[in-house]
Amino acid sequence: MKRLSTTQLLKRRAQGERLVMVTCYDATFARLVERAGADMILIGDSLGVVIQGHEHTIPVTLDEVIYHCRAVARGCAQPHLVGDLPFGSYQASHEEALRSAMRLMKEGGVQSVKLEGGERVVESVARITAAGVPVVGHLGLTPQSVHQLGGYGLQARTEAAAARLLADAVALQEAGAFALVLEGIPAPLAAQVTARLSIPTIGIGAGPECGGQVLVLYDLLGLDERFTPKFLKKYDDLSTRVTGAVSRYAAEVREGSFPGPEHTRQG
Ligand code: KIV
Repeated sequence: MKRLSTTQLLKRRAQGERLVMVTCYDATFARLVERAGADMILIGDSLGVVIQGHEHTIPVTLDEVIYHCRAVARGCAQPHLVGDLPFGSYQASHEEALRSAMRLMKEGGVQSVKLEGGERVVESVARITAAGVPVVGHLGLTPQSVHQLGGYGLQARTEAAAARLLADAVALQEAGAFALVLEGIPAPLAAQVTARLSIPTIGIGAGPECGGQVLVLYDLLGLDERFTPKFLKKYDDLSTRVTGAVSRYAAEVREGSFPGPEHTRQG
């Protein structure tokens, strides 16, 4: 089965479908996410937090993202794979941005790349798309700028900031981005941006009017009981279920009831 192309994704959206994107970092979950019918898998630099245990996404390297892209690519056949350009892999120059995007595609096996920011990355987006690499933009709460933003709060709350974000969105579309992640902005602004653009917006913490939604897989599965932001809906409580399963295993090992006869070969 061939992977979904940008053309097919845009066609789905044009037909009124909302695009389903979820993050994923390994082959096992990629297989399950594909079975669940996701259109797009984002190998996000959120891996720095949920896989590596960092406080921020900033320490993640391009080599690490490529490693996880390859694992995801081996685990599923159909979803469109978006590789995240991590902090420090595209900011220094347009040439660096292009080289990093090409590495993600060539070595990571993704079909498109995502990068954060507005005006300051527009030229890089133009060069990357001109080289044949589809680009997803990312505006609003851009976690790689956490120290500049001063935290993970709602963005673009003033009229001026909202106008800037709208102008950035238009500039990214004109530079060739084929989709745009909107993170952590007021829902009415996300609706306005969505109506203004011809490319799909994909929201996270940006309300229901976007052209699609994205969530971090570990968040939607409820793998961290400490993480409870307003935007997040937990579709399961795997934190409790995983702890329960491993506790039952530990108890049975300690009491000697595992492995039992049904899990034991005699010859
Ligand atoms: O890295 C990531 O997972 C992301 C999504 C939250 C959009 O950028």
